[in-house]
Amino acid sequence: MTISKTKITARAHTNIALIKYWGKANQKLKLPTTSSLSLTLNDFYTDTSVLFKPELTEDKISFNNEILSPIKAKRIVHFLDLVRKMANSNLYAEVYTINHVPTSAGLASSASGFAALAAASSKAIGLDLNKKELSRLARRGSGSATRSIYGGFVEWKKGFSDKSSYAVPFEEQLTWPINMVAVMVNKSEKQMSSSKGMQISVATSPYYSAWKKLCKKDLKKIKVAIKNRDFDTMGQIAEENAMRMHSLTLSASPDYSYFDADSLKVMNLVHTLRKNGLACYFTMDAGPNVKILVEQKNTDKLVTELQKQFASDKIVVASSGPGIKYL
Ligand code: DP6
Repeated sequence: MTISKTKITARAHTNIALIKYWGKANQKLKLPTTSSLSLTLNDFYTDTSVLFKPELTEDKISFNNEILSPIKAKRIVHFLDLVRKMANSNLYAEVYTINHVPTSAGLASSASGFAALAAASSKAIGLDLNKKELSRLARRGSGSATRSIYGGFVEWKKGFSDKSSYAVPFEEQLTWPINMVAVMVNKSEKQMSSSKGMQISVATSPYYSAWKKLCKKDLKKIKVAIKNRDFDTMGQIAEENAMRMHSLTLSASPDYSYFDADSLKVMNLVHTLRKNGLACYFTMDAGPNVKILVEQKNTDKLVTELQKQFASDKIVVASSGPGIKYL
């Protein structure tokens, strides 16, 4: 095992779950209560460079050109501790991250962030991890990062231990012309982190056991729909699964929600467009932005309709993106 003398840079793209992960069976290992399935996107990604240096007395973390305070850097330092432990090293690192994802606004920046950090830091410290090992390591940073190791449709198999919980590609080289249109209704930091939110849902929502059962069914059904290129069934399942996840926030104690007025406006518009014959389906994560699944042939029509109600710079069209790579 040799520590790299030059910085190692990795790029990871974010992913949006069609079957959501919302709850942990084990907090420390970030083992989920359910398996999930996502689409990796091309437009939103994180580049992270890491260099371990003997002269450093602590980790130095730069995020979007700002040196992070110890409090803000805590989660990253904690992750680097894990990597050091794996490599049996006590060297500190310089970490330089540029995020091409709006942070904490429900576009899963922690997914691309921890996937890129897992890839860059493990290689920089001399660990030679395969993709399965990288996926397991990324999981320790953030659950959704587990899936960002791969491109296209990705399944995170929940497993039951550190070794058995990792992502596998479901369809990596996607030949299906579909888009995910993100409507950025609000770019501000979210009030309730996904970590905390899911913890409250697991502990208090009376619907949590139903959620687990339904996720298992939804996952099975969506895999068949994807294989059959059945866009409507895929979209329907994804939209329902997202709404069920959000019902776990509304039914928690204390209750909370990631919807804001504009999120509801987008959801209503999607329903109206669908009634009028335009096949599109929404999904939402732990933030107010709405992502709409649409076939490429209908993307322009959808964007034109969205532009009647939202500024053009709030609408981003993404398509399927690749897995982790070193730059
Ligand atoms: C709604 O991966 O951010 O995006 O594991 O606590 O870091 P932690 O949570 P995180 O949660 C993502 C939740 C979600 C659904 C999903 O991506 O599956």
